[in-house]
Amino acid sequence: MTTKAQAVLDWIDERFPLTSSIKGHLTEYYAPKNFNFWYFFGSLALLVLVIQIVTGIFLVMHYKPDAALNASGIPAAFASVEYIMRDVPGGWIIRYLHSTGASAFFVVVYLHMFRGLLYGSYRKPRELIWVFGTLIFLALMAEAFMGYLLPWGQMSFWGAQVIVNLFSAIPVIGPDLSIVIRGDFVVSDATLNRFFSFHVIAVPLILIGLVVAHIVALHEVGSNNPDGVEIKKKKGADGHPLDGIPFHPYYTVKDIVGVVGFLIVFSFIVFFAPEGGGYFLEYNNFIPADPLKTPPHIAPVWYFTPFYSLLRAMVWPLFGLDAKFWGVVAMGAGVVILAFLPWLDRSPVKSIRYRGPIYKAMLTLFVIAFAILGFLGTKPPSYAFFGVIPGAPVAQLFSLYYFLFFITMPWWSKIDKCKPEPERVTG
Ligand code: HEM
Repeated sequence: MTTKAQAVLDWIDERFPLTSSIKGHLTEYYAPKNFNFWYFFGSLALLVLVIQIVTGIFLVMHYKPDAALNASGIPAAFASVEYIMRDVPGGWIIRYLHSTGASAFFVVVYLHMFRGLLYGSYRKPRELIWVFGTLIFLALMAEAFMGYLLPWGQMSFWGAQVIVNLFSAIPVIGPDLSIVIRGDFVVSDATLNRFFSFHVIAVPLILIGLVVAHIVALHEVGSNNPDGVEIKKKKGADGHPLDGIPFHPYYTVKDIVGVVGFLIVFSFIVFFAPEGGGYFLEYNNFIPADPLKTPPHIAPVWYFTPFYSLLRAMVWPLFGLDAKFWGVVAMGAGVVILAFLPWLDRSPVKSIRYRGPIYKAMLTLFVIAFAILGFLGTKPPSYAFFGVIPGAPVAQLFSLYYFLFFITMPWWSKIDKCKPEPERVTG
């Protein structure tokens, strides 16, 4: 660096921790040397967050949150999305990047969370990283739910109608609460305006704040790794972990490989299959919202369907309260229970590599249960596998398993026959 540039840098460093931040979070952030591909998904989630924010900014320039009908009898919000798709230069790609980005976000975040389950990344000392992660997941669900109302298509309208109505099942405060959420007695222009406000500013701010907290917490305790070994326990004479390598250039370069792989798949979907077979953009949402015409089958977007199945599995009124109320409780509990994982797991080891057969079997079944609940959530309650096995009791069975996985974990994680964890990472 020239002396002039160094002088400028020194001037900044005396007033702002620039060099020390770059050192602390990049060049001298020592990460375990044995990261595998599962470690791509954190940086990919960051990438998708940036894609969503940048494309969102451009969408807002042309989108109108207005449910009033225009001269052609089309709601202005729906028409503004069509205008973006057909008339705004490059509008179609901005919109498809954003709509595909929503699904990509959940793909990446689900895989990122699954990595946590594989390697016990939520265990001490990373409990707060995980708790922030669960809050991020909740915020992400709220963000996606409110964003989906904005195109004001049939699914936007009726999906919001179904979900907001659920809140009215909460005793005492429910009916008023659902009116506060909607801003009206039915989903209307007022709902569209408040969801727009939350979607473009309130929730993104919360999301960014939580992501910062997530990464600050991560850099405080250091990353876990596929062996679940704490690398900070074994340091060399230079004070750096023996099994650690500086994040830059090693992991910046490795992450670029993940980014390129991701962008290839992502671009393919954006250019060739942006509707994702009706899973990323539902076909009914190409029809303008019509409050007088309920679609025959209302299903949420794929990333909500496992939790939607938990909701529908509760069909019995209990303690004098409506089944609908217990459905809301099950759906909420299905997300919130994740936050307790660090305290439910009593295994002596973190990584699946050294766990016993019970964890492997329980986790495999959990993934199967989650996938089947997701699949059934896209179908009407009357769905039967091969036309014979009724889907509803299957969903109830797997919903029960979903919760049993967590509730019984303190017991089975303790008695599982684990292998001893190595002293150093194995490569
Ligand atoms: C916007 C969403 C998210 C972003 C941008 C994000 C970002 C990141 C990044 C960059 C890392 C470090 C790289 C890596 O380990 O892959 C990380 C680690 C981690 N994240 Fe996230 N994350 C998000 C959501 C979540 C969620 C929903 C959870 C769990 C509920 C979670 C749990 C974790 C854990 C436990 C680690 C530490 C992993 C380890 O050291 O093995 N994250 N996150």
